[in-house]
Amino acid sequence: MRGIRVTGWGISVPDKVVTNDDLSVRLDTSDAWITERTGIRERRIGGKTSEMAIEAGRQAVDRAGLAPSDIDLVVLATTTPDALVPGTACTVQAALGTSGGAMDLNAACSGFVYGLVVSAGLIATGAGRTLLIGADALSRITDWDDRKMAVLVGDGGGAVVLEPVEGPGDLLSWNLNADGSLRHLLTCDHGGYLDMDGKEVFRRAVRVVVESAQRAIGDAGLEVDDIDLLVPHQANLRIIQAACQRLGIPESRTSVVIDRYGNTSSGSIPLALEDALRRGRVRTGDRLLLSGFGGGMTWASAVLRWGA
Ligand code: ACO
Repeated sequence: MRGIRVTGWGISVPDKVVTNDDLSVRLDTSDAWITERTGIRERRIGGKTSEMAIEAGRQAVDRAGLAPSDIDLVVLATTTPDALVPGTACTVQAALGTSGGAMDLNAACSGFVYGLVVSAGLIATGAGRTLLIGADALSRITDWDDRKMAVLVGDGGGAVVLEPVEGPGDLLSWNLNADGSLRHLLTCDHGGYLDMDGKEVFRRAVRVVVESAQRAIGDAGLEVDDIDLLVPHQANLRIIQAACQRLGIPESRTSVVIDRYGNTSSGSIPLALEDALRRGRVRTGDRLLLSGFGGGMTWASAVLRWGA
């Protein structure tokens, strides 16, 4: 049996900071509304998915003490590939000089957790070291005159190196879920803009995050109190708070970066993970609960023991 261990990580966000006050200049909105309803204070925009993925990937490979040629597979979770063809993972592969395969994966904001599970499955059946990246440039598919969406989104990405280890490894449990009958809740057509039934997404998000997180905790043979840190998708601070409350996880055991980055889709969980690592909030042996939800609808949770 071959499991996985995270051995490197990195992030990338564009330099351009857009505050709520900046948005209020051109939209009928306010810092107070955005902060109270979403927890977002500022976001980064102007990113390109490949560029963020390359930078985050390079950092992750460096931190793992590896050369890019040691990487056997690139999995890029993204909803905003640079182009439909070729896959953006191939741009990353060429820029970094990784070996083996490269593919994109689209599960909207659940993409990073989906990517983690897919990568672990491929490693279990023989793939070597895998560079898993979650990166999105939602600013590129946002109508900046639509206050409903514009206040929510940001660009960013993060990456981890997953190495094969003998035995079960550090992915203790996972579940992947989708309900395509709800695909109308969050959409973006070719060449169009993101649109969302925010209220309905909100309502369902809390319910599915709680249900899938509880299932992942149980499947890992753990209790809620055994979870050292919740690393959730960052779509709305109120969703995170409601999920924490229902799960019985104190907010002090949750990584929140939405105030600085907004909703970065596939980028949000690795950004929140890196933030917690940089602040020394994660120790070897800690049990992290990763949980995402988004368009599709898709949702997914995983319990990861921190082995690095
Ligand atoms: N500024 C000021 N007022 C606004 C804004 C804005 N940016 N946007 C909406 N309003 C107004 C509305 O027009 C409405 O006015 P009305 O009462 O006169 O009709 C009022 O504020 C309340 O609007 P609601 O939509 O009811 O506000 P709500 O509290 O539901 O918050 C929000 C909206 C933030 C979108 C919330 O529903 C949400 O976060 N939903 C979930 C989003 C999410 O998780 N998405 C998943 C992933 S997103 C992705 O993948 C890109």
